[in-house]
Amino acid sequence: MRLYLKFSTKTKTMILVIVLFILTCIVFSFLRQIDIRNLISLSKEEFKGEIANIYTTTLKRTKEFYTSRAKANLESDNIKNYIKNQDIEKIKILTQARFKVLKEENPYLLNMKFFNNQGQLLTFLGIKNRSLNPKNAKNEYFFLDKDILTYHILTPFYEKNKLLGWIEFCLAAEYFLKEIQDFSELKGNIVFNKEYQDGNLITKGSQTFILHSFTLFDVDDKQAKMIFYQDITEQEDIIKKSFIEALILSLFLILIILLILHYGFKVLIKRLEISENSLRHLNANLEQKIQIELQKRREQERILMHQSRLASMGEMIGNIAHQWRQPLTELSAIITHLGLMMELKRLDCENFKKQEKSAENLISYMSKTIDDFRNFFKPNTEKIVFSIEKTLDKTLKLLESSFKEHSINVKKDFKEEIEFYGFQNQFSQAILNILCNAKDVLIERKIKNPCIKISLTRENQNIFIKIKDNGGGITISPVEKIFEPYISTKHANMGTGIGLYMSKVIIEKNFKGNLYAENKDNGAEFTINLILTSSPKMQMKA
Ligand SMILES: Nc1ncnc2c1ncn2[C@@H]1O[C@H](COP(=O)(O)OP(=O)(O)OP(=O)(O)O)[C@@H](O)[C@H]1O
Ligand SMILES: [Mg+2]
Repeated sequence: MRLYLKFSTKTKTMILVIVLFILTCIVFSFLRQIDIRNLISLSKEEFKGEIANIYTTTLKRTKEFYTSRAKANLESDNIKNYIKNQDIEKIKILTQARFKVLKEENPYLLNMKFFNNQGQLLTFLGIKNRSLNPKNAKNEYFFLDKDILTYHILTPFYEKNKLLGWIEFCLAAEYFLKEIQDFSELKGNIVFNKEYQDGNLITKGSQTFILHSFTLFDVDDKQAKMIFYQDITEQEDIIKKSFIEALILSLFLILIILLILHYGFKVLIKRLEISENSLRHLNANLEQKIQIELQKRREQERILMHQSRLASMGEMIGNIAHQWRQPLTELSAIITHLGLMMELKRLDCENFKKQEKSAENLISYMSKTIDDFRNFFKPNTEKIVFSIEKTLDKTLKLLESSFKEHSINVKKDFKEEIEFYGFQNQFSQAILNILCNAKDVLIERKIKNPCIKISLTRENQNIFIKIKDNGGGITISPVEKIFEPYISTKHANMGTGIGLYMSKVIIEKNFKGNLYAENKDNGAEFTINLILTSSPKMQMKA
């Protein structure tokens, strides 16, 4: 498996193609072999039929021929009588010439025998050999004697239906072999071995033959067989050659395919390399571009934050002015009062001390106001655990005099005392932006009975801070657009349009919360949703 994994795709594909190709070649060569084998078996059947045909025709013809020869012999020269009288000399002399002619006609004729009605041999012409007693034999039969096979044709003869004897012609069985060989052009011989089975394949040197066997005689388990060899060397050669041809062809084609594959892969790999390079280049460029864009964005955010701070600062200065107006008037009144008292020489120690105390109180109030604002503008250095309720109070306090001046009624509904871990000043700034917007709308639209409701609730881990006014609602559509930077309905000097954008960034990015707005009951309602993932202290530890 590990070895398999080591191969490259190219090698794997090549191996697969080669294997598939070899398999196809094997299948084709196998099919061709089947084809040739079918042809061989067809021709085998043909030869088998032909041999059987020649054999039976020859047998019939031979039997008829020699039976007619025997009858002709009996009818001529009164031979019948000589046999009846068992005149052997006469029989021999009279038949000799005829036998000679027959022998010349067919050299396989071995002898001609004469039997009396008892089946005893009277005389014979030709070679001496053994025969069966005609009384116990059929009219034609094969006889096996010491590995010599002979064919016997018996012709009985009668006188007034009384059997007088038999004339027998005996032929060497090779006669049939010769006849079949002549007609079928197959080579053959006679064997006495049982091993020669019909259909067997035998090889002699480089030649291959199919065996066609004919059982001629079967007595006492002795068998003589006539066998013929059908030469299928040519077909076998074709089979062998077909495999080699398929192999050579497949090797040749594999070579071509490998070359094509090799070239194809080379081109493919080159193209891949080119596209990979361009991708890598693009990637590197992209990363660079992203980095540049990110940097730009960070810079922009920083500028926005700065602008927002400046804007808030402007507003705060206005607020300080509001906060200070009253104590400054009071201080001026004290100073005027002291001056007047001095002129009238009515300034006693107790009175002075009282006025001094009042002035001190006023100054410390003013100083506290500055502290409050300074704290607010301190940059966020680190996250702290802070009370949301107290931070809301503090933020409201910054706008207190402004609200008072415009008779804006602030209704607080803080149901929970919740501690949160984060940048307190940023949170305060986000709230301040929303409050300032509400205040601006209420003043700008000269709303009667202006009112801002601010609530703090908690549902499980969800903290909700809702700031609602009765200023008539947001006129920008869709409402969510107000959170985009530089979206403002205010006069150029009055608003930059980044207050809510900053608030959203603070709540959603730095506090992982949610800030959204909707128009409700003749006013706008802003909701801040923060999630307490664990207790603030735990968050701090984390
Ligand atoms: N409470 C509200 N009621 C009605 N409209 C509001 C309210 N709060 C905000 N808006 C609208 O949303 C706009 C965007 O507010 P945002 O605070 O982002 O900018 P701005 O107040 O116009 O300028 P900046 O805050 O930068 O000085 C406002 O100009 C105003 O039209
Ligand atoms: Mg604003």
